[in-house]
Amino acid sequence: MRLWGRARRRADDNESGPETEVVGKRRKDRGRSRLVSGALMVVTLAIFTERGRGAIRSVARWLDARVEGFSEPESRTYSHFFAPVFGRLYRGVARDVIAELEARGRMNKATIVDLGCGPGDLALELSHRLRGSRVVGLDLSPSMMQLASRHATTDGRLRFIVGNAEAMPFTDRSVDLVVSTLSLHHWKKPAAVFAEVSRVLRPGGVALIYDISVLSLRTSELETIARDVGLDPDALQRERVKGGFGARLFVRFRLEGPEIEDDRES
Ligand SMILES: C[S@@+](CC[C@H](N)C(=O)[O-])C[C@H]1O[C@@H](n2cnc3c(N)ncnc32)[C@H](O)[C@@H]1O
Repeated sequence: MRLWGRARRRADDNESGPETEVVGKRRKDRGRSRLVSGALMVVTLAIFTERGRGAIRSVARWLDARVEGFSEPESRTYSHFFAPVFGRLYRGVARDVIAELEARGRMNKATIVDLGCGPGDLALELSHRLRGSRVVGLDLSPSMMQLASRHATTDGRLRFIVGNAEAMPFTDRSVDLVVSTLSLHHWKKPAAVFAEVSRVLRPGGVALIYDISVLSLRTSELETIARDVGLDPDALQRERVKGGFGARLFVRFRLEGPEIEDDRES
């Protein structure tokens, strides 16, 4: 009996180290999953109140502004896993762009700029559909531009440049249409970008800026931007996205360029 007891005690002694570790790890895991469930519960409850949604938006925007220009691994991940998911969005946006150019009689020789173009899927779609136009993709991230450059054409009809939307390398009134998808919520200074877009738009031109609705600018914020940068509030609008491509998920901002008569007068 004594022998058995001693042997048992020795076995207990040997097991007590790893067992304590396992119990400690289990406790830690349980604590972590409680924390995650608690955070999820707070987020779920917050969605039902305007103030909660505002808080979620602020946190998400703060996080997004930290990745304004995508690093190399982020660019590669985005290009391989995220951009292919948005194929329908790009095709829908391309249809909108064509409709706008048609309505404005600018189907031929239009200059189109895709702001924050990322790996260039939309710019490519546009250049396929608008053979007589020039498409320029502009993005802050050199690694995104490296990925997009594979689509560039040798005749310069489709090209990609590294640049900040806050200070575009284009002359005043030189662009017919500015388009952008899913980039706005990354912009550190959206007001500066809207001022820049307004500077480069030709008379009769237009900007169509698509973004993720829940992360993007509210109407009141848009009004403040219009006031701050001296834009006509009627020229800058927040619109619902029509049609089938995730109408509720996305929102569109429209900025009209100067009126054509203005240009003739000046
Ligand atoms: C989520 S990606 C969207 C890419 C692409 N437009 C699409 O729809 O797939 C956002 C892109 O905006 C770019 N970006 C963010 N802030 C920018 C700025 N101030 N000027 C130019 N590009 C910017 C980022 O580098 C990134 O490539």
